[in-house]
Amino acid sequence: MKRIQLEIVLGTLLVLLTTAMVVVLGFREPQRLEQYVVQQRAELIEFGATVFTNNCTSCHGSLGQGVAGVAPSLRDAHFFTERLAEVGWQGGLEDYIISVVTTGRQISTRPQLYAGMTGQAPVMPTWSEKFGGPLRDDQIRAVAAFIMNFEPYALGLVPTAVPLGPVVDESTPEGRGQVVFAAQGCTACHAISGLSTGNVGPVLDGLASRAGNTVAGLSAEEYIHQSIVDPNAYIVPGFAEGIMPQNFAELMSEDQLNDLVAFLLTLE
Ligand code: HEC
Ligand code: HEC
Repeated sequence: MKRIQLEIVLGTLLVLLTTAMVVVLGFREPQRLEQYVVQQRAELIEFGATVFTNNCTSCHGSLGQGVAGVAPSLRDAHFFTERLAEVGWQGGLEDYIISVVTTGRQISTRPQLYAGMTGQAPVMPTWSEKFGGPLRDDQIRAVAAFIMNFEPYALGLVPTAVPLGPVVDESTPEGRGQVVFAAQGCTACHAISGLSTGNVGPVLDGLASRAGNTVAGLSAEEYIHQSIVDPNAYIVPGFAEGIMPQNFAELMSEDQLNDLVAFLLTLE
């Protein structure tokens, strides 16, 4: 073969190879993008869970289930289906939440039902720092995403096996652990029938039954404890390392951690 011919052949091969790579990467891109969007949303929800726990539970309940006489449930069917029409809001629900949280509420729209903590104006304080409140815009967007995440089971799209709301018995370790599960934002990544719909990590239904057989030498309790404080010690097949946050041990007290494990041990 002459040199020029060789160059043509090599050049053609290079073009073919590049085209093939572009095609393969191009095919994988939408999938990667979708995964990325799901994960970003999960992170936003998780962040929103912290904002909610620190600012909202005193009136709206530890799980957002509402407190009789104080503030409404943010996770019942009425809120997700009828509330916008009731208040005459034209936009979407997420925007409604952002708007109400940003400005707060001077006067309750249902004073006979929900009059805030003190019964005095404002019934819900202004949250946005733009109006003298304590929260930044990104914190308000996150807490709205956290509340929107309640929708699927509020509407019965996910069967409710674990009764929610005031039924949670916070005098038991399991009950308190369920509250910790929601408060720490585990819900954003893990599904439990009737409780949460996160789909970044494994479904936790049946966890208690399989946990004792996952890592040789670890009891169910030890495995679940390790999964939370040291997630990378064992990676569930089919999932990636390093996605579950590594710092839960620092975010929870020893008691909260024990309650959380007790709750997860009820998932048979
Ligand atoms: C001092 C008690 C109090 C605190 C704290 C509080 N809220 Fe409220 N919230 C209320 C009351 C009272 C209402 C109004 C109920 C009404 O108008 O019927 C309300 C209404 C809402 C609504 C509209 C609900 C609806 O049915 O229209 C949303 C959304 C909301 N709060 C979110 C939050 C978030 C998020 C936080 C934390 C950042 C928070 N609230 C903290 C008392 C409180
Ligand atoms: C950002 C997403 C994310 C959050 C938030 C998260 N996890 Fe995970 N979790 C994962 C992923 C991904 C895995 C699988 C990979 C692995 O084993 O580390 C996992 C694995 C687990 C496992 C092992 C499950 C099995 O089937 O063996 C348990 C238990 C668990 N998580 C509990 C929790 C608890 C409790 C919280 C809240 C304190 C939490 N996770 C928060 C993503 C998350």
